[in-house]
Amino acid sequence: MDSHLIKLVNKLQDTFSNLGGELDMPQLVVVGSQSAGKSSVLETIVGRDFLPRGQGIVTRRPLVLQLIHTPTPDSSASTSSTPYTEWGQFLHLDKRFTDFDEIRKEIEAETFRVAGQNKGISKLPIHLRIYSPDVLDLTLVDLPGLTKIPVGDQPSDIERQIRSLVLDYISKPNCVILSVSAANVDLANSESLKLARTVDPQGRRTIGVLTKLDLMDAGTNALDVLTGRVYPLKLGFIGVVNRSQQDINSNKSMKEALDSETEFFQMHPAYRNIAKKNGTRYLAKTLNQVLMNHIRDKLPDMKARLNTLMGQTQQELNSFGDSASFGDTNSQGALVLRLMTQFARDFVSSIDGTSLDIS
Ligand code: GDP
Ligand code: NA
Ligand code: MG
Repeated sequence: MDSHLIKLVNKLQDTFSNLGGELDMPQLVVVGSQSAGKSSVLETIVGRDFLPRGQGIVTRRPLVLQLIHTPTPDSSASTSSTPYTEWGQFLHLDKRFTDFDEIRKEIEAETFRVAGQNKGISKLPIHLRIYSPDVLDLTLVDLPGLTKIPVGDQPSDIERQIRSLVLDYISKPNCVILSVSAANVDLANSESLKLARTVDPQGRRTIGVLTKLDLMDAGTNALDVLTGRVYPLKLGFIGVVNRSQQDINSNKSMKEALDSETEFFQMHPAYRNIAKKNGTRYLAKTLNQVLMNHIRDKLPDMKARLNTLMGQTQQELNSFGDSASFGDTNSQGALVLRLMTQFARDFVSSIDGTSLDIS
């Protein structure tokens, strides 16, 4: 996530909570068919390797991933007792995880524990918090893939069950839907787009993500989809190339993967001209814009609260009368006024410092 946005959101969240309100950020939810690349996309958005991914049915319980911003440690104050700035914590386990491979293993173990060994699915979410100086306070949800035919321990109505599970999450108006489809499957069959449309008919909070562009048949491409000529979404379609199974097996790093993805778009004859508007980095940028728009929608409420509070403070100060000396009894009032003034200044500068107009 863009560090400027992280700073801005933190400031606004503090300001809002001081005003007795809440800057509730949207939840990001991934939806798509089995193995479309949902977990892979989420992982690259977070920028860390920690989600179980793979061929077949890997994600079998919802994972509610809460990112929690922690202040960057002050290097002068750092002591050997606090060597970690980033860690994970599960709701079901009283333990701090600083090794992200261990986090993945725990997600796998906890999936098996509740959803069984044999492809079963459970509605019961796994709750994981990631604490880091590099994240926004934001909730992301990874979900089991939409599927039609039951396998293993799955019940005969698995399709209906997963749809209802997905709908529980994407129906919330405060949710941004990442509708993930694989480019090597006909988009007309995209179950995730159909489902997203039922809760977001105008396509206002749905971002289309097209994965596996590297796996399309030679001589075919997805230019029409990526330029919005096939399926209308206000926020558009963004093509990505995630790590292949081979890349995962050989531990290809996230940085390497991002670089080869960039190269893929720049070198591809069909995508060269739209390379800047595709790829994981562009997806992250688009998400930032969506969050900015959300914040902009919240600003009038914040302003109103600020005005009310300023008015109250002024009244309180007036009630101290014209006692010329601000002695001990009144110093509290003076302090409040000073804080409020500072506060208003911060508030205005945090808004002015950022272009909230997204064109
Ligand atoms: P999910 O089931 O939708 O969560 O999908 P995963 O993220 O687990 O990915 C399923 C499989 O597809 C994994 O083996 C990934 O390596 C692979 N995969 C995902 N996205 C891409 C992509 O863009 N290109 C290639 N070549 N493989 C991908
Ligand atoms: Na999978
Ligand atoms: Mg998955």
